[in-house]
Amino acid sequence: MSEELKKLKDDHKDFRGESLDNPPSSPFELFSTWFDAAVKNQELESNAMCVSTVGQTGMPSSRIVYLKELRNEEFVYYTNYSSQKGTELALNPNASILFFWPKMQRQIRISGMTSKISAEESDAYFSSRPRESQLGAWASHQSELLENSEELKTRVAMLNAKYPEEVPRPPHWGGYALIPIEIEFWQGQPSRLHDRLVYSLMENTWRQTRKNP
Ligand SMILES: Cc1cc2nc3c(=O)[nH]c(=O)nc-3n(C[C@H](O)[C@H](O)[C@H](O)COP(=O)(O)O)c2cc1C
Repeated sequence: MSEELKKLKDDHKDFRGESLDNPPSSPFELFSTWFDAAVKNQELESNAMCVSTVGQTGMPSSRIVYLKELRNEEFVYYTNYSSQKGTELALNPNASILFFWPKMQRQIRISGMTSKISAEESDAYFSSRPRESQLGAWASHQSELLENSEELKTRVAMLNAKYPEEVPRPPHWGGYALIPIEIEFWQGQPSRLHDRLVYSLMENTWRQTRKNP
């Protein structure tokens, strides 16, 4: 086993974060405050989030994607609708997303239902992307088996010739919005007495509770 892996059990970090007293009534207000703080503190990839979906057999799967927008109290990201996550979401729209900002000793866990955003919105974002990314969205049959990396390069070259000017959005590529029903804010505190503040949506109102760390 590696030397670093052997040391893991001896690593006892202590945290000292800002307190979560007097939180706002809206979890989106707190999310925005924490997101701005993460960017200001130069957290690496502040908008990277782990999205977990559940497959037909009940097996969960997780991957990182980029949050691209928080609008109408929904968390929006873009991907391939035919990918593993897309296939799983088509059968079970429940999903969880997780942000981890280590410098701030913060984690945000969000669960809810996922739906596709409108084709017009996906078109608008797709057209704003660099040409290389647009061709990549066509070239990558995301999550399918690949014989070798040449196959991908060949497809990109073919697509580059096929679309000499504007690249249209592939129908299988677009945005998802996660509509949250629960958002938990975790703030690291000394001696493992961390703060956990949970907002749950009940009858259109966000209720706050606290959990043991
Ligand atoms: C930092 C980072 C950002 C990523 N952002 C995205 C993204 O915005 N959209 C996406 O489809 N994949 C993104 N990926 C790739 C995914 O993690 C994943 O490999 C891909 O979406 C296929 O997932 P699936 O097979 O589970 O559907 C990102 C990976 C990393 C490490």
